[in-house]
Amino acid sequence: MSKILVIHGPNLNLLGQREKDVYGTTTLEEINALLLTQAKSAGIELEILQSNHEGDIVDAIGKSKAKNIQAILMNPAAYTHTSVAIRDAVAAMDIPTVEVHLSNIYAREEFRHTSLIAPVAHGQVSGFGVESYLLGLQAVIKLINK
Ligand code: DQA
Repeated sequence: MSKILVIHGPNLNLLGQREKDVYGTTTLEEINALLLTQAKSAGIELEILQSNHEGDIVDAIGKSKAKNIQAILMNPAAYTHTSVAIRDAVAAMDIPTVEVHLSNIYAREEFRHTSLIAPVAHGQVSGFGVESYLLGLQAVIKLINK
């Protein structure tokens, strides 16, 4: 069975309570349940990680090839805009990676307009709320079934 690694970056554990006007009211648990349902119907296994620590995310990406992960779906959250380490980990793995954001990062503060991850990702989905994750998962499934 194909396996996809789903990574949620810092503060996404607070979804549902955090800046609801920007991120909505859906909790991370609810997002994960939706992702698991979509994956199950496509016959795909998900490994899901949420971490507030850059090194944990770097480690998870770095181990993904050895764990036979076929693709990565990732919301790097604030690390999108700052983390050379996460970008380098994605580049090192050469595993198709789709970057997702709940909010439209290009319609927000200028510091959010730059993604260090986007140049090494296969693509990005930004601005559709929870749907960004579901569209991202759909894209990732298509990539691994190609
Ligand atoms: C986010 C956008 C980031 O700029 C922000 O730091 C987040 C969430 C999003 O999903 O819209 O934490 O990745």
